Amino acid sequence: MSHDAAPNTPARRAPTDLHPVPARVREGSASSIQTLDDWRRVWMAAKTDPDAFWLRETQARLRWRTTPTQGLHGSFHDIADSQVAWFADGTLNITESCLDQHLETRGDKVAILWEGDEPGQTRTFTYRELHAEVCRAASALRALGVQKGERVIVYMGMVPEAAVAMLACARIGAVHSVVFGGFSAEALRDRVRDCGAEVVITQDEGLRGGRSIPLKATCDAALEGEHGVRHVLVYRRTGGAVAWQHTRDVWWHDALAGASADLPAVETAAEDPLFVLYTSGSTGRPKGLVHTCAGYLTWASYTHEVVFDLREDDVYACMADVGWITGHSYIVYGPLANGATSLMFESTPLYPDAGRYWDTVARHGVTIFYTAPTAIRALAAQGDHHVTRYDLSSLRVLGTVGEPINPEAWQWYYDVVGQGRCNIVDTWWQTETGGICITPIAPATPTKGGSATLPNPAIVPVLLDDDAHEIVGPGEGRLCLAQPWPGMARTVWGDHERYVSTYFSTFPGTYFTGDGCRRDSDGYHWITGRVDDVINVAGHRMGTAEFEAVLVSVDAIAEAGVVGFPHPIKGQGVYAYVVLQPGQQPDDEALLTLANATCRAQIGAHARIDLLQLVPGLPKTRSGKVMRRILRKVAEGEPDKLGDVSTLADPSVVAAIVAGAKV
Ligand code: PRX
Repeated sequence: MSHDAAPNTPARRAPTDLHPVPARVREGSASSIQTLDDWRRVWMAAKTDPDAFWLRETQARLRWRTTPTQGLHGSFHDIADSQVAWFADGTLNITESCLDQHLETRGDKVAILWEGDEPGQTRTFTYRELHAEVCRAASALRALGVQKGERVIVYMGMVPEAAVAMLACARIGAVHSVVFGGFSAEALRDRVRDCGAEVVITQDEGLRGGRSIPLKATCDAALEGEHGVRHVLVYRRTGGAVAWQHTRDVWWHDALAGASADLPAVETAAEDPLFVLYTSGSTGRPKGLVHTCAGYLTWASYTHEVVFDLREDDVYACMADVGWITGHSYIVYGPLANGATSLMFESTPLYPDAGRYWDTVARHGVTIFYTAPTAIRALAAQGDHHVTRYDLSSLRVLGTVGEPINPEAWQWYYDVVGQGRCNIVDTWWQTETGGICITPIAPATPTKGGSATLPNPAIVPVLLDDDAHEIVGPGEGRLCLAQPWPGMARTVWGDHERYVSTYFSTFPGTYFTGDGCRRDSDGYHWITGRVDDVINVAGHRMGTAEFEAVLVSVDAIAEAGVVGFPHPIKGQGVYAYVVLQPGQQPDDEALLTLANATCRAQIGAHARIDLLQLVPGLPKTRSGKVMRRILRKVAEGEPDKLGDVSTLADPSVVAAIVAGAKV
């Protein structure tokens, strides 16, 4: 990693040492949390009287039709029988909080600032324009027969119309489910089926890094033989040729032409579902997490404002994709609820070169910049000159999300991008949590490179050991959250039992995150990564079981065990151990190519196996359970730390696995 000395940074401070908040970050802050003392006071207030705290916040942030009088209802102890609810007696339409409430004071302020795939290709929507476009799209959906409560799949690239589509669903009380544009036809079909969507919104093609992505064609393949989908609404992005089913397909521009630009919003209950978002877990089948209207938006709004210390004239840029939770909460819902200018980025950090992010920051005067450690590592590896040739003096707050950031990458971000003038907020959270949970608060929290630091108000982290004993003070254990917060997912679509068993059965009475965490003597949290069978590859969360299901669908493969291994850019890579069917003899390179073609077809282009090792058998206990610990240790290059292998049915496979290891 290249590393020019930054002028403002004392030479001998290690990345993991405490970094005070730079003066520039504190200056001019009007935040409710400007110091650690503020944080302590506010965190305690939210803990001791959550109802009063969040009723006050939600009323200040959201436009309600019926003001709620109830705060939290339910607890983690009775979650099997009833869902947690927040603000349950209130009614609203969340688009009135994201759009209508700003029309008088911020009507001409830019809401969405879009940077297209080609540098300098921009479009803007003011709040007034966005409101009108959302109303038109909502009218179009209604004309297609979409009803309140119905699910609509959004399968699009990073165009403003993706945000418009989400908000249009919300305007009429429909439930959107955005499917990341990299997912394959099979993955899309599974999601359409699981949530029972009858309408899909897509575009002709996506555009990324100069390459087109055949979204409509993939959608057509996904829907082949699916008679449940009545309509596909197609936004024209590139003008590329697409197949057309005249009774089913409708052009976005035709449907919106002449549609009402002032559609009254449908009233929903606070706890009505706003969206379903699928994420991977430790089984092969992704689960659709359900986020509800008011609690989610309150949480997205609060965390977006407080963590980044949002100010009225900020230009805020989150480089995530709307297909993931980060795009939902921190490109669309949080920023729009807060009346911010939110930059939406269609391209990649490396197109046309490794200076693209910084060119974008400089041209638009971005003040808050939020990205993933993978991107930071990839860019740091390209050299500082891609950064230093741009004027980045507008930046004040830098954020990271999605995976642990290694201290070296953190320091590069701090010194070279932030030039020692910005605070870095390393934000830990999950699809399930709806918004940021453990994080520095920009003007208040001194940082340590690699630590997500302290919990947000409403978040009560506890570390538990294997016997479910709480670790008090410094120590390392499984990260659980002890109290409900407004933005938590309420259930898994159509399967509340799965929700309860996944998150609330390991340590009854608390929400189990699936992550490991160390707490240091300052009370700072260091996320150590997943302790379940979920891996995080380049910020994409995937289940090892998903890969295993794909692998065993390949004819030549009898069994497969997949684990993560440390990867210098992607954080984790995918390591597959494969047992062949009897009589099969492909070499491992040929098999890797075939396996990856199958992963691409069944999951998507982002699902790639990096290393594949042929093994005579998987290490199984006598009861037939695969000892994944052994697979993990070998993939991590620590075959000398396998621990006790005496319970294995056939210990000889271990020697073969170690001898043939790819690392
Ligand atoms: O392992 C944690 C990691 O990403 C997981 C959540 O993934 P997903 O639901 O896709 O949401 C990603 C965007 C919020 C977590 O269980 N993770 C997320 N943020 C961090 C992190 N690990 C360490 N540090 C973080 N800041």
